[in-house]
Formats: sequence, structure tokens, C-alpha cells
Amino acid sequence: MSTDTYICSVERSNVLATDIAADPGRYRTLTGERPTGPLHIGHLFGTIRERVRLQDLGVETMIVLADYQVITDRDAIGHVRQHVYDAALDNMAAGIDPDRSTIFTHSAVPALNQLILPFLSLVTEAELHRNPTVKAELAASGRALSGLLLTYPVHQAADILFCKANVVPVGKDQLPHIEMARVIARRFKDRYAAVFTEPQALLTSSPDVPGLDGRKMSKSFGNAITLSMTPDETARVVRRTATDSERHISYDPDTRPGVSALLTIAALCTGRSPESIAADVGSAGSGALKTLVTEAVNSFLAGHRRRRAELALDPGYVRSVVRRGNERANEIAEQTLDEVRRVMGTHY
Ligand code: TRP
Repeated sequence: MSTDTYICSVERSNVLATDIAADPGRYRTLTGERPTGPLHIGHLFGTIRERVRLQDLGVETMIVLADYQVITDRDAIGHVRQHVYDAALDNMAAGIDPDRSTIFTHSAVPALNQLILPFLSLVTEAELHRNPTVKAELAASGRALSGLLLTYPVHQAADILFCKANVVPVGKDQLPHIEMARVIARRFKDRYAAVFTEPQALLTSSPDVPGLDGRKMSKSFGNAITLSMTPDETARVVRRTATDSERHISYDPDTRPGVSALLTIAALCTGRSPESIAADVGSAGSGALKTLVTEAVNSFLAGHRRRRAELALDPGYVRSVVRRGNERANEIAEQTLDEVRRVMGTHY
């Protein structure tokens, strides 16, 4: 993406943010997660807090637990059902209210998935091959490109367009996805009729959360602090972090990835700067830093973990939340598919 394009996106996003605050009732947002494993603090700072904020402003909020996306870059679907319920718990513990927001699973909404067929006719193979997310996921998977991974931007567009979401909070790296959804909405209008709304990207200022090894926090890197860990488990993973032999603690992500990742995590959890935390620890060494980080994370997550544990006491409740969400998503998707059939002339 060129710098100019990025600056335009930032400007548009700022205008959008002002309008959402003034008139939240005009907006519907959709975001989601791939239920590949437990959610971690990267998810919380990255997307979950932003969607709670939008919900609380009065924006209608849809959350897709994209279970079909689990198999875009791997064969094993894993304990997907458990991961779905865990993700629902984490969203609720973070403030998502299932009476105001819809939590649903991709695979339970046939009409949403059916939109992918006409959408596929609107994009070319070359466009899909060029998509930066497809390229990045392909490289990370180290495997042959599956048809599902190649078409990832199209099914993600279907997730957004089926419910006519007009605002999608994203990090900068996901802008190409929103662009694809906009292109599909536009081409559908040119070919048939204006059924779909062009979604706008709301760029979130959320920080990149480093994992415990300094790379991006990710389940697949095994460097994550998950939201569901106990305080003791948190202490254990923090203690395992590879630091270095320099006793004086300083913030320098390039030369000291482990130490700097720990400082950044503590900074996010306390609202302070990594440098000032480094100055506090001074020459007390990485052991002292790890104790400080553990306490910062555990006290930051205490409320979340308490609410999560309370909700988890009633597994029937979380199942009913997902079931209700699926019903609502199906209603919306069927209505949209009906419109699509009508404008395509495929209603019999
Ligand atoms: N791909 C996203 C992730 O990996 C999840 C997701 C699925 C999503 N559909 C979406 C996000 C639509 C935003 C909009 O976390």
C-alpha cells in the first residue's frame, strides 16, 4: 500500500470516527476471530476492546467466530467447538452483551456462505493471488495454496456484506480485506443492483502486542499470554521468556527483543510507558522485571478472569448465546440472499 493511500485511509477513518460518535444508530459493525485456540491479550488490545467500545456507543455489533476459516491454512480443525465457546466467553467477559450484540459461527449460516458463489464471479484469480493477506498466510503455512485460502478475501467479504456492516474496525494490515469487500459490493451493483453497502475501515489505534519472544503475539508461535490462564500459569510463561545476561533493564526492541516485549506488555497493562518501567526496574535484572510483568498482567486481567470464570460455571448459557446469535445471523443472511436472488433473477 502506498503512503498516500494510507494517509487517505487515516483521514477517512477519522471522519468516520466522528460520525459514529455523533450518530451511532446509523452504523453496524462486524468483526471476528478464527477459533483456532484460546484468545490472548493481543486479541483483547487489538480487536475486542474496540468492539466493546463500539457496542457501548450504540453501534449494532456482529461478531463472527469464523470456524470455516480455521481450515484455510491447516488440515486439522482441532477442538473448534470448545474454542468457539471459549471465544464467546472471552468476548462476554470483556463486555460484549449478548442482548445487544450478536455472536455467531460462520458454518451455522448457510445463506451467508451461499453469497460466496456469486461473489467469486466478481473477482479474478490474479486479484486473489495479489492479496497481501493471502500471500502472508500462505508463506506462514509453508504448504500448498488451498482453494479456500486463495478465496479467503472473498469469504471474509461475505462475512461483512451479508449483514450490510458499514464499519469494520481493523488494523492497518487488514485494509486490503476491506478494499476487497468494497470492490465486490461495487461490482455487484454494476452487474445487478445495489444490494450491498460498501463497508468503511475504522483504523484502530490499538498497539501491536508483542509475544513473549518479541515476535507478534500469536497462538501458533506459542508466545502468548492467554486470557484464560490462571495467575500461576501466567507467572510460569512469563518466567520462561528468554531475556539476556545484561542486568540493567532498558527498552530496545531491536537488540533486546525478550526484555522489550516484557516491558511493552507491562506498559499496556498499566497504561505507562515501557521506558519508565525500565527505569523503575533499573539494575534489578530480568527476574525483577518478570515479577513486575506477572503482577501487571494478573491485576489487569483479574476482573476479566473473574467474570469469565463466573460465566463458565453455566455452559448451557454460553451455548444458548451462540445458538441465539446463529438464529439472528440466519435471519439477516436469508433476507440478504433473498434480495440477491431477486436482483439476479434466480427466485423461483
Ligand atoms: N480473519 C479474521 C481473523 O483471523 C477473522 C474474521 C473473519 C474477520 N471474518 C471477518 C474479521 C470479517 C473482520 C471481518 O481474526
